[in-house]
Amino acid sequence: MQTLQSLQEAKMAMAKSLAPVLIFTFFCSYASISSLASSDDFLQCLSANIPTQLVYTQSSPSFTSVLKSSIRNPKFFTPTTVRPLYIVTPTNASHVQAAVVCGRQNGLRIRVRSGGHDYEGLSYRSEHPEVFAVVDLSNLRAVRINQQTSTAWVDSGATLGELYYAIGQASKQLAFPAGLCPTVGVGGHFSGGGFGMLLRKYGVAIDNVVDAVLVDAKGRLLDKNAMGRDVFWALRGGGGESFGIVLSWQVKLVPVPPTVTAFSVPVSVDQGAVDTVTKWQEVAPALPADLFIRVTIQKQTANFQSLYLGTCDALLPVMASRFPELGVNRTHCKEMTWIQSVPYVYLGSGSTVEDILNRTTSSAVFSSGYKATSDYVRQPIARGAWQEIFTWLAQPDAGLMILDPYGAQISSVPESATPFPHRGGVLYNIQYMNFWSMAGGNGVAQTKWIRDFYAFMEPYVSSNPREAYFNYRDLDLGENVVVGNVSSYQAGMVWGEKYFKLNYQRLAMAKGQIDPDDYFRNEQSVPPLAPSK
Ligand code: FDA
Repeated sequence: MQTLQSLQEAKMAMAKSLAPVLIFTFFCSYASISSLASSDDFLQCLSANIPTQLVYTQSSPSFTSVLKSSIRNPKFFTPTTVRPLYIVTPTNASHVQAAVVCGRQNGLRIRVRSGGHDYEGLSYRSEHPEVFAVVDLSNLRAVRINQQTSTAWVDSGATLGELYYAIGQASKQLAFPAGLCPTVGVGGHFSGGGFGMLLRKYGVAIDNVVDAVLVDAKGRLLDKNAMGRDVFWALRGGGGESFGIVLSWQVKLVPVPPTVTAFSVPVSVDQGAVDTVTKWQEVAPALPADLFIRVTIQKQTANFQSLYLGTCDALLPVMASRFPELGVNRTHCKEMTWIQSVPYVYLGSGSTVEDILNRTTSSAVFSSGYKATSDYVRQPIARGAWQEIFTWLAQPDAGLMILDPYGAQISSVPESATPFPHRGGVLYNIQYMNFWSMAGGNGVAQTKWIRDFYAFMEPYVSSNPREAYFNYRDLDLGENVVVGNVSSYQAGMVWGEKYFKLNYQRLAMAKGQIDPDDYFRNEQSVPPLAPSK
């Protein structure tokens, strides 16, 4: 496997030598992408550039296990799922370049998969009949920390757990602000935003990205300067899959104190959950940046889960003065290092730091089908509405809600600084999820519940547009289906403005610069907009 170090060292050399060789070799003519893929020619083209054992066809004995290896939502692994014709598992940058060049030359689209956590499975399956190959980056997962500059280069195929672990090995007082789940892939997570328990102190993952290496639709290897300002802006929250294949990211690491404190306090409806959640909406987004308190509401209990960047002694007076209703006392406090808090918060108190290296951690999420969607709240929801919400959550097929408070750093960044626009004025993000056992059902009732509940929530959440978080992808919000005289740009606005607000237009223009032929395309990719003359 080529390490990130050698990748970085090779970066400029490749840009000067290898990429032009590939470009000259393959870009004499592009087959039309709408023509039928010439599968033999694609394989032949690959075989000149990629060891055959890194390419799987549907008849390869390991095709199914490789495809399944990072599928997180088993509802997209059924006999009717539209699967790739091929899976390519590159071990260095030139393999990725070759896959793009060969795909384009032979009219075969490519989807890219890093950690496979996409809520709609778009990294490895298509919603509609389509012929495509998957480039699976799980072999490209090196992490290289530079303690002197407090930066790191991380390959897209690394998981968040692998990134956090490497940081923890290097220093107990450095961290990175990204998601909670250690098996999430860096590639999809960063390119869609990426937030976790440090969001109030340090913002979204992409607020802390300083460079990236991209393979574009011409097979070129481009760093920040070579890809240009607009494309580098677009990769940081606009969804990488629209712009190419991001191989690696350079990030700024952030300081954390030697001791952080976690607590988890469940409050049932009988214990006053309706009042406590109502109060939380105003308290949590206004707390000091060092204090993050999220709420998971399931059935009739709201669980308040917190990470504080400091000791229990420092936390308790803040809680007593700002949120006494929660009744936090010393018995609730769990002090630890930041890296210890990663498994503690997501995997539970019995887990170890090494557990975050497990790329296939089993949990309910991975053995159950699920449906999810999201909202943003800008005005506190009234107590009476919360009473009704708890009634919805008591229904037999109900799912759960996760409320992540914003405010502080995440909200201080201007809406247009990155494609991720959910900033000033947002009180909190809501994630709705509903699960079902694949053995026992088809998810129809659970999916209906989430759709009905989403409709019920409309008066209480952001509007014009009703904002949604791109990393909680939901095809119910719209797809790239062009009907009549509507342009693909206009069609994309339906879902694009929910995810990106006014940044949707700039994203389409960046797409027009880097991939005007729309080679990198899926059901919710940004369509290209030609620059105005
Ligand atoms: P996957 O590989 O499926 O890719 C997702 C999308 O990005 C696809 O469209 C894919 O083509 C594209 N892509 C992937 N790699 C790319 C690359 N290298 N270049 C270009 N495009 C690329 N989110 C959050 O903000 N905070 C959180 O705490 C969590 N927690 C969480 C837990 C669990 C269990 C799940 C399933 C999901 C989350 N998420 C989350 C959502 C998560 O951030 C989102 O699904 C990411 O897109 C997943 O990235 P992966 O690389 O794993 O997905």
